[in-house]
Amino acid sequence: MKTMFWENNQLVLIDQTKLPHELVYYHCKTYKDVIHAIKTMKVRGAPAIGVAAAFGMALAELEGVDLQKAGEEIKAARPTAVNLFWAVDRVLKSDNALEEALKMYDEDIETNKAIGKHGAEVIDDGDTILTHCNAGALACVDYGTALGVIRAAFEEGKKIKVICDETRPFCQGAKLSVFEMQQENIPVKLIVDNAAARMMQTGKVNKVVVGADRVAKGGIANKIGTLMVALAAKRFDVPFYVAAPKSTFDFENSIYDTKIEERDPNEVLYFGECRVAPEGTEVENPSFDIVPGDLITGIITEEGILEPF
Ligand code: MRU
Repeated sequence: MKTMFWENNQLVLIDQTKLPHELVYYHCKTYKDVIHAIKTMKVRGAPAIGVAAAFGMALAELEGVDLQKAGEEIKAARPTAVNLFWAVDRVLKSDNALEEALKMYDEDIETNKAIGKHGAEVIDDGDTILTHCNAGALACVDYGTALGVIRAAFEEGKKIKVICDETRPFCQGAKLSVFEMQQENIPVKLIVDNAAARMMQTGKVNKVVVGADRVAKGGIANKIGTLMVALAAKRFDVPFYVAAPKSTFDFENSIYDTKIEERDPNEVLYFGECRVAPEGTEVENPSFDIVPGDLITGIITEEGILEPF
């Protein structure tokens, strides 16, 4: 099952806000529909929003909209993932937006399979792997980056287990990563975010593998909570790997220049439909963490495992 596909001049996306309970598709007929889908996280995860953005540009071309203008608007949908900017710029440099988007769609799957192959080398038979957020098939066109590494190790016949952090406030771990692992019968357990350090302290985790929205000078950016996981992993000598395609890399800038998305306070005030905090509660809701390079064991890419730079 692909996260998105192109059909009848529309981009059709799995609406991830409805998973795991309902499989509903959202049809993007205009580039503005794609912007809406990215902003509301119907499509999310760095590679997936990159490819969706490329199809957004294809829709803009079909609509006869100025591509520079559409590109600026699409880039403004979310600030942190490099892939969004990379995808729009790549389409702008191409001769045909739709052809380029379709090429990026196919490349994404090949890239993730290559990440999986390299990453599986560091996974041992019997490992329990902790992951945070969802860097799975749903965060890409298919297969996934961090969950691609897990898939590849499992496909090689390694007996592995997975622990998913819930990943408050959006719960991508509980809703999406657990769902993906269950679909493939990969043994999986869900924990609250606060339990990750305890799992490592008690020897229940052998490796951590997470994705990234940005890899730049000095470290990586990934979902809020990743820093706490990386710090605990360092303290308890658990190898901490980041799996990311080269399209997530920014070789020019410091990771500390990353714009960290601040999301709606209601994500924190409510648990699903249920309000938890009292009226008048002030909220800060940063959506991404910066993990310094010295906490990272290796960065698994389609070209092999790199050191942080
Ligand atoms: O806010 P999200 O759900 O888009 O955040 C996603 C993540 O943090 C992922 O780990 C990252 O984008 C890598 S996806 C292969």
